[in-house]
Amino acid sequence: MKVLIFGGSGLVGSKFIDLYRDSFEIESPDATEVDILNKDAVEKAVEEFAPDTVINFAAYTQVEEAENQKDDKEGICYQINAIGAKNVAEACSSLKKKLVHISTDYVFDGSKDTSPYTEEDKPNPINWYGKTKYFAEQLALESGCPLLIARICMPFSPNYELKKDIARFFLEQLRAKKEIKAVEDQKITPTLVSDIAAGLKTLIDADKEGLYHVSSTDSMTPLEFAKTIAELFGLEYSLIGGVSLDEYNKNKKAKMLKYSWLNPAKFEEEFGEGILHTIEEGLVSFKEEIDAKANNPI
Ligand SMILES: NC(=O)c1ccc[n+]([C@@H]2O[C@H](COP(=O)([O-])OP(=O)(O)OC[C@H]3O[C@@H](n4cnc5c(N)ncnc54)[C@H](OP(=O)(O)O)[C@@H]3O)[C@@H](O)[C@H]2O)c1
Repeated sequence: MKVLIFGGSGLVGSKFIDLYRDSFEIESPDATEVDILNKDAVEKAVEEFAPDTVINFAAYTQVEEAENQKDDKEGICYQINAIGAKNVAEACSSLKKKLVHISTDYVFDGSKDTSPYTEEDKPNPINWYGKTKYFAEQLALESGCPLLIARICMPFSPNYELKKDIARFFLEQLRAKKEIKAVEDQKITPTLVSDIAAGLKTLIDADKEGLYHVSSTDSMTPLEFAKTIAELFGLEYSLIGGVSLDEYNKNKKAKMLKYSWLNPAKFEEEFGEGILHTIEEGLVSFKEEIDAKANNPI
């Protein structure tokens, strides 16, 4: 199967390519080769490679910086997340190619405190990044292409140099014996990138369309997450303190969601257990990969 990937150098896309370069015939132009803001270039790339599936991982993911562009449809955040996504979806529509579009829990408002968000829950984004990602979902749907939207949540990776994620941030702080203030009253679903990649491959292999949440199978507070990392890596617990989300949000432009969690039950009902994992299982694999790299640095 031929897969054309936009955003293949990013945190999530690069792991998908690492894991599945032998399973698929993959082409992944970088942004200098194909800028998704250039509609003609996107269409040409899709036409020339003639993939069975296009995956759009490309996005503007600087949530805090995005807030400086609030309501600005000329801003880079709206342009990449909404217009770029539209260009990719319209190319897929006119060339009749399947699109896998990657979205986020940030399409929700984070007020659902009873259980994690399902595909049935209604989006209501509260910051500009979330709004642009929700526009993207709608524009992809409007394009009429064969479409799978996969929402993911807080990806974390043992080895991605270009960007920190929550797991490596906590780990590096603890290893440097620095104090951590972790939010104690928020619910999150951090997900190991290779689980996200495996979930996407499963959906692609099954030729699924529609909306799927692809995430860890449980949730934690960031405080619990930090403590789990400390425990698994044998690091000092006493460096970890709690802070309320209200306190944490005080100096933030883009408010973080209180309930920033996803429920992948639909995925597990269709594909069974074992592809996605609990957060702790994800952290165990995270540690195994980090240890393996430390023991074999080349
Ligand atoms: N990271 C998170 O916490 C998170 C959480 C939930 C959902 N998501 C979603 O998951 C997806 C992947 O996120 P990520 O964290 O892997 O992203 P990332 O690391 O920030 O990477 C973004 C990717 O988009 C590409 N890109 C940006 N502008 C482009 C343009 N104009 N044309 C072509 N490519 C362009 C970048 O290419 P260059 O490097 O060449 O510029 C890079 O490969 C996104 O849809 C994101 O919204 C992420």
